[in-house]
Amino acid sequence: MEKLLNDKVAVVTGGTKGIGLEISKKLASEGATVIACARNPVTFDNKNIQYFRLDVTSNEECQKLFDYITTQFGKLDILVCDAGVTADSMTYKMTDEQFDKVVGINLKGVFNVVRLFGPYMERQGFGSIINISSVVGRYGNIGQANYAASKAGIVGMSLSWAKEFARKGVPVRVNVISPGYILTDMVKTVPQELLDKFSAQTMLKRLGQPEEIANAALFLASDLSSYVTGEVLNVDGGMRL
Ligand code: CAA
Repeated sequence: MEKLLNDKVAVVTGGTKGIGLEISKKLASEGATVIACARNPVTFDNKNIQYFRLDVTSNEECQKLFDYITTQFGKLDILVCDAGVTADSMTYKMTDEQFDKVVGINLKGVFNVVRLFGPYMERQGFGSIINISSVVGRYGNIGQANYAASKAGIVGMSLSWAKEFARKGVPVRVNVISPGYILTDMVKTVPQELLDKFSAQTMLKRLGQPEEIANAALFLASDLSSYVTGEVLNVDGGMRL
């Protein structure tokens, strides 16, 4: 069967771990050349995935990535912004550092990357941008005011971009995936009794697997979703239905 992403070039921020890694692998398995970006280097056996050093809070490093993609490939088909961190704390003891770090990476970091590639996609005349939010941005979570603010902010920013980059009729699509609690290293740090509670809140009575988010990303990255933009796709097992 014809692969869905043959000849496509994709950038995945936070693409070396957790959900981002699963997205990198999924896009590569469908034929895309994937540039998996992160602060810490990794080596991939998969010849379709290459590592690129990126701290999304550094405009200089974002510019280096942009220069690399535009000179090396001359186009970008798919941009997935997944880089994100937590610094959980009850609000009464949350420090400025905890708030600024999480919002700086999760929200401003997405802005730093998209402000280069979004207008570029508009100029080249095509592109699919997928930003990773969270169920926490939708419903909130005790001890995560900073993270919730960043993840809710991603939704508003992405909807603005869905309008902005397509305003002249160019098919640049911008969508959001809002994962529920997915079994990654980040979630595995949460106390088991809370994980059981989150699991019980879903209709499917379980936490999610990273590949279930990657499947949604593949849909939004490919032409299967050619008429989908400005959408928030909740992949959370039906939490709080
Ligand atoms: N639901 C219900 N009650 C909660 C709760 C929750 N999610 N989280 C904390 N509480 C309660 C505690 O039971 C406790 O209650 P009492 O005051 O009655 O004792 C109170 O809130 C304070 O909690 P702690 O005693 O745990 O306070 P702490 O200062 O030691 O730790 C914390 C606070 C760091 C936030 C800790 O509770 C914690 O790690 N919570 C988990 C946070 C979480 O769910 N993070 C998700 C990470 S995964 C992720 O973010 C990915 C994604 O997109 C989903």
